[in-house]
Amino acid sequence: MPHSIEPLFALSHRPRRNRKSDWSRRLVRETRVSISDLIWPLFVIEGSQRSEPIPSMPGVARLTIDLIVREAHRAAELGIPALALFPYVDSALRDNSGSEALRENNLICRVCNAIAKEKLPVGLITDVALDPYTSHGHDGLLDGETILNDETIAVLTKQAVLQAQSGSDVIAPSDMMDGRVGAIRSALDQAGFQDVQIMSYAAKYASAFYGPFRDAIGTSKTLKGDKRTYQMDPANADEAMREVALDLDEGADMIMVKPGMPYLDIVWRVKDTFNVPTFAYQVSGEYAMIQAAAQNGWIDGDRAMAESLMGFKRAGADGILTYFAPRMAEYLKENR
Ligand code: PBG
Repeated sequence: MPHSIEPLFALSHRPRRNRKSDWSRRLVRETRVSISDLIWPLFVIEGSQRSEPIPSMPGVARLTIDLIVREAHRAAELGIPALALFPYVDSALRDNSGSEALRENNLICRVCNAIAKEKLPVGLITDVALDPYTSHGHDGLLDGETILNDETIAVLTKQAVLQAQSGSDVIAPSDMMDGRVGAIRSALDQAGFQDVQIMSYAAKYASAFYGPFRDAIGTSKTLKGDKRTYQMDPANADEAMREVALDLDEGADMIMVKPGMPYLDIVWRVKDTFNVPTFAYQVSGEYAMIQAAAQNGWIDGDRAMAESLMGFKRAGADGILTYFAPRMAEYLKENR
């Protein structure tokens, strides 16, 4: 007996009993992250055999199509279900109306074609929004300082159909225009793409955590003003519920909340209320914070990664878009 104390009281509850050993902790574990929960975002550039590291996202690089195809094979081998693709568009191709978004055979069309040809068991998710293509860096068409809603939707529906024609499996509108999900659904149906899914960025907040992503797609310097007239105010939660309800009503198959970690209450409420496939995006700034602290030796990067992704699952997310996807898949194979 290390310390014998008088049994002055008998504890009726000892929650620590279940935590006493690894086998017991595993047995009572409530939440698990699996490889099937991961969506891997990738950045595409022109050229071949080239990888351009993104300084604000340590461990992430822009890749040429051939290297992306290699990563798609890696995703298949690891068992990652889906990729989300984002283009870095040459600045000479960006204009006021984002016309490059509608050009057949643009970068995103070619990368989709190239991956689709491989017939891998991996879903392709493509982003519908104009920001990689506009000279002003906004997701929609700009008139003076106003983002035009309905005019933008007319372009987005064409962008969505073009992506579907190129082999995209899931259209993910991230633009936050009103009514775009319904318009995209009917455009896809009319073009014969009834089976192409829509994952709607339904509750997307005007966030400081997108900074490194804007470096990655080259819009940090060009973005004029901010996106607060279309992305949501971080203070609002009821409004997120209304946005989700509308997108479901318009035909969204899956819902996304973005960013992730500062908005886990929203993930929880969405899942709890609507009971639909609910995803969260652990965005570039969240990834950068963990990586930066880990690189400084201030936190254990792998453990912080795993714990943050567990948080999403515990909050009710069915899956997570995360730049950690390949590392997390390896980690899950190494640690049960
Ligand atoms: C833009 C888009 C953004 C992200 C995904 N799609 C940034 C923005 O709205 O400015 C952010 C993703 C990330 O930060 O990882 N349509």
